[in-house]
Amino acid sequence: MTVTFNKINKTYLRHTARQVEALRDVSFSVDNHEFVSIVGPSGCGKTTLLKIVAGLVKADSGNVSYTSKEKPRSALVFQDQGLLPWLTVLENVCLGLELQRVKKNERQAKGRDFLRTIHMVGFEDHYPHELSGGMKQRVALARAFLTNPDILLMDEPFGALDAQSRLIMQEELLGLWNRERKLVLFVTHDIDEAVLLSDRVVVMSHRPGAIKQIITIPLERPRSLETREESKFTEIRWQIWKLLEKDIRADLSL
Ligand SMILES: Nc1ncnc2c1ncn2[C@@H]1O[C@H](COP(=O)(O)OP(=O)(O)OP(=O)(O)O)[C@@H](O)[C@H]1O
Ligand SMILES: [Mg+2]
Repeated sequence: MTVTFNKINKTYLRHTARQVEALRDVSFSVDNHEFVSIVGPSGCGKTTLLKIVAGLVKADSGNVSYTSKEKPRSALVFQDQGLLPWLTVLENVCLGLELQRVKKNERQAKGRDFLRTIHMVGFEDHYPHELSGGMKQRVALARAFLTNPDILLMDEPFGALDAQSRLIMQEELLGLWNRERKLVLFVTHDIDEAVLLSDRVVVMSHRPGAIKQIITIPLERPRSLETREESKFTEIRWQIWKLLEKDIRADLSL
């Protein structure tokens, strides 16, 4: 299944101040099993784009089309995890399956299997407030993968983590993705993270949000944190920074 953005335009109308043109003529496609990141200055419309795929926001013109017969199912992972505080780790992980009416035995078996993958065996009965930020984020990732969506949408999922936990999460996600090979649309402000994880990186410009360039990442898979030390990695990360630099400086009025 391929997801295609066809000339998406979106302007937010506001009663009190000027309207905001969030996206202008955004077109690109993402193939099945592809990991695509979106980077760009704050306010360039990245979240809006994911929300349009999830059906939470409607484009003014243009559309998102799919090659599959049925409308694909998507799962969304945000920065603030969205775990339910009154459910245990295992119950949170299995929540999506419960909504899909999978039987309790079956969903708990799948949930336990996934907890092994994300190195959280022994924490099944803990509640979210008893976990570190990184652990909570792992639970949120497991929950999203476990519902087996056709499209996985992630909006700065590691944004709230410290730099070291973030590296570990990138490693976890590389492992999970390698196993499941989902179609992923991943929003991040971290250029290194985008390069390490992605098959392609969509670089967006500011006001209105439009695509500047789409860069194919030629790094071999499977990748690991060591991939960051390769000279090709450093080259691409610099290339992306150069594309973004002017817009980011403009955004900060520098
Ligand atoms: N519900 C809304 N009503 C009005 N304006 C909005 C709304 N949502 C977003 N915007 C505006 O649209 C633009 C794009 O917002 P969006 O959240 O998609 O950007 P973003 O690229 O995700 O930014 P960030 O990197 O800071 O998360 C911004 O200028 C924002 O202020
Ligand atoms: Mg955003």
